[in-house]
Amino acid sequence: MGPVRHIGVLTSGGDSPGMNAAIRAVVRTAAFRGIRVSGIIGGYDGLVNDHLRELGPRDVSNIIQRGGTILRSARSEAFRTAEGRTQAVATMARHGLDALVAIGGDGTFTGAKVLLDEHGCRVIGLPGTIDNDLAGTDRTIGFDTAVNTAVEAMDKIRDTASSHDRLFFVEVMGRDTGFIALASAIASGAEYVMLPELCQSIDQLVKELSQASRLKSSSIVVVAEGDEQGGAVAISEQVRKLLPDRDMRVTVLGHLQRGGSPTAMDRILASRLGSAAVEQLLAGEHGCMVGEVNGQVRTTPFAGAIGKRKSLQEDLIALVGILST
Ligand code: F6P
Repeated sequence: MGPVRHIGVLTSGGDSPGMNAAIRAVVRTAAFRGIRVSGIIGGYDGLVNDHLRELGPRDVSNIIQRGGTILRSARSEAFRTAEGRTQAVATMARHGLDALVAIGGDGTFTGAKVLLDEHGCRVIGLPGTIDNDLAGTDRTIGFDTAVNTAVEAMDKIRDTASSHDRLFFVEVMGRDTGFIALASAIASGAEYVMLPELCQSIDQLVKELSQASRLKSSSIVVVAEGDEQGGAVAISEQVRKLLPDRDMRVTVLGHLQRGGSPTAMDRILASRLGSAAVEQLLAGEHGCMVGEVNGQVRTTPFAGAIGKRKSLQEDLIALVGILST
C-alpha cells in the first residue's frame, strides 16, 4: 500500500453531538500534515453515489460547538449490498482516496470491516454514538452530552413531580444498552432504573417504589428504551395495575438526546480522537477504532470494538439503590 495523501471522512448511523468536532480535528490535523481531506456527504450512501466535497481548514471553522453533523448521516441500504460496496470502492478510486475515517457506531464499523475484508480498503473508525456501547473506549463521542441533556430534563421533571407528589417514568435512549439510563439515573438522583442488561421484574420495581413512596413526595424511574419489559409507557401501564392509587406520568425524551451543542468533555474527546485517527493512518494503522481507555488513546480492531459487549459498571447499578433509600 502506498502512502496516505488523501483521506475521506464520513459520519454514519445515528448522529451524535461532537461529530462535528471530530470532523474538524480530522481536517485540521490532515492539513497540518500536508494531506488532503474530502468529506463524504450522507455516510456510506455518499460513497456509493459519489457525493463528496473537498474540505480545507477554513471549511470546518465554527463547527466545534454545533450538534449534528455537517456531513449529514444515514443508515445506508445500498451499502449493505455487494454491488453498492463495489460502487463505493470505485468512488474512492475515482477521487484517489487512500483511506477513510468513519465516524459512527457498531453499524458503521461493521460496514468499515466489510470494506476492509472484501476490498482491502484502509479504514479507521472513531466512536461516534450517544449509546456508549462500543468496547475499546471508555466513552463514545456524544455520550456525555446526551447524559447531560437527559439530566437537565429530569431536574425539571423532578420539580413538577415533587409539586404534585407524582411518580414519573422517564424513557431515555439505548436500544440495546443502558449506559445513558444508568448515568442519568445516578446524576438525577432517580429512585430506580430499568436496564436492558438486567432481568428486572415489575414486582420488584413496585416493591422498591412502595418503600420509597412512604418517605418521598416524588419518584423518578429511568427506563432505557430497549428494556425487556418494554419502554416507559408499557412499564407504567403494568405498574398502574399494581399501584392504582399512585398518580403517575410518562415522559419520553427521544431524539432530544441526540441534538444540541456538545459538552466540553465531548469536544475534547472528539478533538483528541479525530486527530489521533489521522496520525494512526499515517503510522500505517487501519482496520481499527481509535478510542480512549484510562485516559490514553488506544486502537482496537473493528472486530473487538463491535463483537464484545461492554459491561455496565456494577457499582453504579448498586449505587442507584443505595442512594435512593
Ligand atoms: O444508536 C443510537 C440511537 O440513538 C439509539 O439509542 C436509538 O435507539 C436509535 O439511535 C434511534 O435511531 P433513529 O434515529 O433511527 O430513530
